[in-house]
Amino acid sequence: MKNIIDTLIFVKKGKAMKVGILGGGQLGRMLLQAAANFDVTTYVLENDPQCPSAHLCHHFTLGDIQNYDQVYAFGKNLDAITIEIEAVNVAALEQLEKEGVKVYPTPSAIKIIKNKILQKQFYHQHEIPTSPFHVTSHSTELLQHISFLPAVHKLGEGGYDGKGVQVINNESEIELGFNAPSVLEKKVKIAKEIALIVGMNEAGKTIIYPPAEMIFDPVYNLLDYQLSPAKLDEKILWKAQAMARKVVTELKSPGLFAVELFVDQLGDVFVNETAPRVHNSGHHTIEANYSSQYDMLWRILLNYPLGNPNEILPSAIVNIIGAPGYTGDVLYEGLEEVLAMDNVFVHLYGKKQTKPGRKMGHVTIISNDYLDLTHKANKIKHTLKAITA
Ligand SMILES: Nc1ncnc2c1ncn2[C@@H]1O[C@H](COP(=O)(O)OP(=O)(O)O)[C@@H](O)[C@H]1O
Ligand SMILES: [Mg+2]
Repeated sequence: MKNIIDTLIFVKKGKAMKVGILGGGQLGRMLLQAAANFDVTTYVLENDPQCPSAHLCHHFTLGDIQNYDQVYAFGKNLDAITIEIEAVNVAALEQLEKEGVKVYPTPSAIKIIKNKILQKQFYHQHEIPTSPFHVTSHSTELLQHISFLPAVHKLGEGGYDGKGVQVINNESEIELGFNAPSVLEKKVKIAKEIALIVGMNEAGKTIIYPPAEMIFDPVYNLLDYQLSPAKLDEKILWKAQAMARKVVTELKSPGLFAVELFVDQLGDVFVNETAPRVHNSGHHTIEANYSSQYDMLWRILLNYPLGNPNEILPSAIVNIIGAPGYTGDVLYEGLEEVLAMDNVFVHLYGKKQTKPGRKMGHVTIISNDYLDLTHKANKIKHTLKAITA
């Protein structure tokens, strides 16, 4: 009898933490899939009731993640809150933090990162190598920077997936620039684009995932496919790892962060941008690494020991992107053929509607053999298509 009572008391004391996620997209969905392994009650705030996360959380709240009152009301009874997108109401998160809600990443880190101007200034202040830049308020100011070209113009806020990023090679292209607060960065002669995912817990301990290497689709400027671990000279990897860790330790925020970096043709490394959340460059960690980025973020949010970020096997990711010319109810052509392939894992995000360029899912391939990875990645790209009936 006593044992039963002890057990009941234990269960009561060990009440599951209530954790909220701002945003209900595919990153939130995969975070919720990992949450099922923990003793946690999950809450999602999102304004689309059909979003990829809606049916996977315990409690879904329909609302605007940019609205102060709605974010505050959503968060005030939670133990902890995290984000799956940066475009959130930071003032509400600051208030919740003051009232004792654990907000990871911290509101001050989100504030810096969500604005590309503040983000670049942050790298500069902390002597983290990043390409040289000027801040512009109006497109007319680009005329003062002709000698700085070729450069890349980036909207301070409101851009996503390559929208809000404009290459300006020479004077004849300056009309393509943004007429809003932006940053004009020197164009880097990129040899490789890599991403490093860093996790930091409450005690300030960090872990870092093996690097991922990206290959972009020239039409949509979306990721085409990705390999991990990236093939990198050891010294370049050390530089990149030191820089990525420094970004996170200087942000002084627990959480999970993805640091995107450029390696140029001279072997110099520059931070491009940071995401203060789980990231598309870490999807492969679900099958290919001991602790996935999603598992790791729960460990951080719930203050459990950090997991092992290392890879079990090398991997590739192919994104399933809405095919050009198809808008409407989605149909996955070639799905059965891909599902029949060995060591290939299909993730569909549950989006009912496709449109050109929309991220509909991804496929992870694991193999010891890089040739096998690239061969299968290309085969999948040409087989699996998000079209309409
Ligand atoms: N300074 C730069 N030099 C060269 N290419 C760049 C530069 N900045 C961005 N790019 C290219 O544009 C892409 C998107 O830019 P990024 O700042 O990462 O925006 P997004 O928020 O859309 O991911 C990068 O992945 C890279 O290919
Ligand atoms: Mg980017």
